[in-house]
Amino acid sequence: MKKIPLFLLILSVFFPAWLGVAHQGATGIVKQRMDAFKTSQKQLKSIVAAAKVEDFDTTEKLAKSLAEWGKKMPEYFPAGSQVPPSEAAPAIWSDFSGFSRAAEIYTQSAEQLITASTAGDREAVFAAIRQVGQSCKSCHATYRAD
Ligand code: HEC
Repeated sequence: MKKIPLFLLILSVFFPAWLGVAHQGATGIVKQRMDAFKTSQKQLKSIVAAAKVEDFDTTEKLAKSLAEWGKKMPEYFPAGSQVPPSEAAPAIWSDFSGFSRAAEIYTQSAEQLITASTAGDREAVFAAIRQVGQSCKSCHATYRAD
């Protein structure tokens, strides 16, 4: 990543709105990915609720949406998009292949959930949900700053 000149850094601390204007594109993509993550969080909750009542059509439909997001997730992290209020960790860009791999593992878990839902296999559905949840957590542990 390019080194940010000190005066820009200071400006960004005191005038984050100014940075937003200067990096309109990045601000846009940061907001887009945050919204996508929030949606996925809601969808995961709905998946658990649907699985409990064995509504596997719903778990399948939502798992497809999670998988789609997983496939395009790395595109939402272009270089230089670590701007406030992003919680993206620098590790994403120092190890982009590791980050992409974590997104892939997540996508594969969501795909397992699709398969288990199609089969109407309750146990496999719950196992896949746990794996999806685990893949969210494990990516956050390395690639999200708190
Ligand atoms: C491959 C990595 C990766 C995976 C997988 C992943 N996340 Fe995240 N998540 C991130 C990163 C990085 C951020 C910070 C993005 C930012 O602030 O720019 C984030 C942010 C979030 C946020 C905060 C959004 C906001 O508005 O600030 C939520 C909620 C979230 N993730 C939920 C989930 C859930 C639920 C899953 C699994 C279904 C998941 N994430 C899977 C990397 C991941």
